[in-house]
Amino acid sequence: MLEIKNFYAGYGQSQVLHGVTGVVQPGEIVALLGRNGSGRSTLAKAIMGLVDWQGTLRWQGQSLQGKQTCDIAYLGIGYVPESRDVFPTLTVEQNLLLGQKSHHKNSRWTLQDMYQMFPRLHERQHTAAGVLSGGEQQMLTLCRTLMGDPELMLIDEPTEGLAPKLVELVGGYLQALKARGIAVLLIEQKLTIALTVSDRVLVMGRGSIVFDGTPAQLRANPSVRQEWLEV
Ligand SMILES: Nc1ncnc2c1ncn2[C@@H]1O[C@H](COP(=O)(O)OP(=O)(O)OP(=O)(O)O)[C@@H](O)[C@H]1O
Ligand SMILES: [Mg+2]
Repeated sequence: MLEIKNFYAGYGQSQVLHGVTGVVQPGEIVALLGRNGSGRSTLAKAIMGLVDWQGTLRWQGQSLQGKQTCDIAYLGIGYVPESRDVFPTLTVEQNLLLGQKSHHKNSRWTLQDMYQMFPRLHERQHTAAGVLSGGEQQMLTLCRTLMGDPELMLIDEPTEGLAPKLVELVGGYLQALKARGIAVLLIEQKLTIALTVSDRVLVMGRGSIVFDGTPAQLRANPSVRQEWLEV
């Protein structure tokens, strides 16, 4: 379980998160929604130790205070940032293999699983990642992180800028994670996909959580949607 309590974070003098509180239970998909600039990416970066923070942040009962990003990844939290970074000169397959952790002998994911979810990556397995389209690079980043066999994935706007067909594939990927019991904190702009795949929804407004409930509860709550989500 990931536990966030009275969590503050920002960039130098500029405080972005003001007392965020929330949890992600094992195997649960939690959508983190909010308008542009509300602080969703900052929360993901702070969890990964990429932004300074104060407060309580615990993963499987252990405090993440003072931990390096690579240690946090080794503890089982995978992170797919907004920027799609692949190793451009390496092939698709080499990128995927780099995502594996050497101490994980029995990862629950294989190359074949990745190729099944995204056949396009199979077709391009021997192609240099740098020449893939933006959407293909996004799929590769999602898969490379998954090859590290995380218990929890933080995924920042995976469908941004993708064609509808690819959005559908990413939806399938999220369902596959759910089927194998991986917990997900999903930052999304598209309300439909977020409400379809998630068990619970957090809405962030101006650096704190203004709604915590089920997709059905959010659907039934137009005032939250109006005040914090619609533009
Ligand atoms: N590296 C940075 N240095 C200073 N301020 C930043 C930095 N990154 C983000 N911010 C500021 O922090 C606030 C929250 O940004 P954040 O990226 O967390 O928002 P978000 O909810 O992910 O929105 P979106 O991804 O749609 O832009 C914004 O006001 C943004 O300008
Ligand atoms: Mg963001």
